[in-house]
Amino acid sequence: MSSKRKKLRKYQSGPRDLIVEREPKSPISEQFRTIRTNITYANIDNPIKSVLFTSATPSAGKSTTAANVAIAYAQAGKKTLLLDGDLRRPTSHYTFEMQNVIGLSTATINDLPLAEVVRDTRIDNLGVVTSGPIPPNPSELLSSNKMSDFIKKLKEQYDMIIIDSPPVLAVTDAQVLSQHTDGTIIVTNVEDNSRDNVTQAKELLEKADANIIGVVLNNKKMDNKKDSYYYYYGSE
Ligand SMILES: Nc1ncnc2c1ncn2[C@@H]1O[C@H](COP(=O)(O)OP(=O)(O)OP(=O)(O)O)[C@@H](O)[C@H]1O
Ligand SMILES: [Mg+2]
Repeated sequence: MSSKRKKLRKYQSGPRDLIVEREPKSPISEQFRTIRTNITYANIDNPIKSVLFTSATPSAGKSTTAANVAIAYAQAGKKTLLLDGDLRRPTSHYTFEMQNVIGLSTATINDLPLAEVVRDTRIDNLGVVTSGPIPPNPSELLSSNKMSDFIKKLKEQYDMIIIDSPPVLAVTDAQVLSQHTDGTIIVTNVEDNSRDNVTQAKELLEKADANIIGVVLNNKKMDNKKDSYYYYYGSE
């Protein structure tokens, strides 16, 4: 393995930057709060209480965005849960420095009570369910009735559920998970943004009856994290 590949692997498995916690007053944190506000206004009559973050292709910034938006909700006093629904390349256990022996996969298979699966974080009002060990058949697990029941139980306990997921064009997992959420947000990296890919992802999600409420444009500048920024607009 070349040193470049080694570096890439290490980089991707490390924690995602929780800037909303680290620098709540920064303009980037403000952008995450804007995403929170826009979700709130996306449906006035039926408030959105669960959101799926996905993307067309890998490495768009889904996990970073999902974790920071979850913190923004928790900071607003909402009882919030971040669910790592990416059973392919999970990251929440790195980001929140948790063990990943128990999580979504084991909870579903073994019918574990929520108290055994949800982990508190150092952030008030924010709980996390990590992915658990990666199962051999993520799509089947996510489509199971047990998974549905598990998410239902979470919804009874939390004001807001934020779900992280794999990219839409790679596997069907996000389409399956979108059926459990009130809204779906597509994250796209403007640096390697392809309109065709995003359109195709949107079509696949719509086929699964996802309620797409917006797109997050993530400007991921790999050379200098401080230069990066996020912004948001509605899908319609
Ligand atoms: N705006 C940004 N500025 C700088 N780095 C970023 C930004 N957004 C994401 N990154 C970095 O890019 C990498 C990929 O981001 P992230 O893991 O959030 O993407 P993802 O869409 O969840 O990827 P995957 O498809 O692997 O799940 C991470 O190392 C993350 O820290
Ligand atoms: Mg991810």
